Amino acid sequence: MKLALFASGNGSNVQAIIDAVEKNQLTAELVCLICDKPKAHVIGRAVAAHIPIWTSTYKEQGGKDLWEQAVVDYLAMLGVEMIILAGFMRIIGNRLLRAYPQRILNIHPSLLPQFPGLHSIQNVFAAGVSETGVTIHWVDEGVDTGPIVAQERIKIDPTWTIEQLASAIHTVEHRLYPQIIQQVIQSFT
Ligand code: GRF
Repeated sequence: MKLALFASGNGSNVQAIIDAVEKNQLTAELVCLICDKPKAHVIGRAVAAHIPIWTSTYKEQGGKDLWEQAVVDYLAMLGVEMIILAGFMRIIGNRLLRAYPQRILNIHPSLLPQFPGLHSIQNVFAAGVSETGVTIHWVDEGVDTGPIVAQERIKIDPTWTIEQLASAIHTVEHRLYPQIIQQVIQSFT
């Protein structure tokens, strides 16, 4: 299965996926990284893994719609079958959704439908709740509203700092995302 990774920032989830492919835990071809932030840290991770990179800002492409069209054309040229959002900080629009219906997966650092959108970890921490988690879901036209594929709960220790909470979430993300991508691929083949 040919996958395109989409990311905007650090890319620790992209790294976990790259590592899983290298260890043969994930049987997929990572055919490109799509990045809307040409200076993002994730770019170096893709370079090191020899993954082709397509990076451009919305502004450079003349807006979101033209950016998405350019990406759809590039993905079609590469034969991409599924899109993996891993810290991609843009809302997916109609051009991508139409080209990849129920073929765009996202990971979100909360137990959706609780704490959707930006700053979920900060919001969970500020709310003082006793548990949170990680959600992997299909992307639809809403913000973190698509069908849920998998969730894992994390009990929050009341002594944790926000950094400890974030670290606990990322540890689960890095294990769960490659596993679930592999399950989804197997369900298609
Ligand atoms: C992750 O917490 C993911 O759930 C969210 O964005 C963050 C990306 O982190 N969508 P990284 O760039 O993969 O380190």
